[in-house]
Amino acid sequence: MASARPEDARDAAGLTAASDLGALRDHIGDCHRCALGDTRTQLVFGVGDPDARLMFVGEAPGKNEDLRGEPFVGAAGKLLDELLESIGLARSQVYIANILKCRPPGNRDPLPPEMASCTPFLARQIELIGPKVIATLGNFATRYVLDTQRPISAVRGRLFRAEGRAVVPIFHPAAALYDASKRDVLFDDFRRLKVVLDRAEDGTLQVPEQADGRLAPEPDGAAGHDAPHIAGRPSGDG
Ligand code: URA
Repeated sequence: MASARPEDARDAAGLTAASDLGALRDHIGDCHRCALGDTRTQLVFGVGDPDARLMFVGEAPGKNEDLRGEPFVGAAGKLLDELLESIGLARSQVYIANILKCRPPGNRDPLPPEMASCTPFLARQIELIGPKVIATLGNFATRYVLDTQRPISAVRGRLFRAEGRAVVPIFHPAAALYDASKRDVLFDDFRRLKVVLDRAEDGTLQVPEQADGRLAPEPDGAAGHDAPHIAGRPSGDG
């Protein structure tokens, strides 16, 4: 949405001018565009391969990330590393970023104004990295990337398209720390994610695009063993 604030116009110009991740990080600077700048220890920009084919988007840094300046280095990050390893990937082969680059106090949910000032940086990161596949972790990332209000439980493990990229929403790894039954679901969804990634890389992935071009759920008829691009979607999942 367009804004009349002069600082937003400066940001828009700076974002366009940032032609690589380093320049984007420099543009963000010692950010105080929202109040989280006053309470964070470190801004957590993102980590991984700047040319990654697969990018993960999480919610916001927690305590450990705030101290280390790197996303997903706490308990949820340990599980994310295990999940990556289960599909033969290392953290260095993917890119990991969050909806918010600064920790909300007490790990509370991101607020709309915080997301509004921070997500343009994520959008530019996605453009610069150019991943073929985005895995959104949890509700906040999924709602932003797919521009939807649907809960993660309604869309997880399915294949979507956003701005030409394949998107696979997945439960946030932290959810499995509180609810052990989600652990197996996460490992299953990572297996599906690997199928999508392999097909995106060998050029056989086809994601149907709806007229709005923004949120294109896999047609229900494509679920099951002969689904052309994502195997084994559980029935009745949204
Ligand atoms: N949870 C997130 O969503 N992101 C992190 O970086 C860490 C925990």
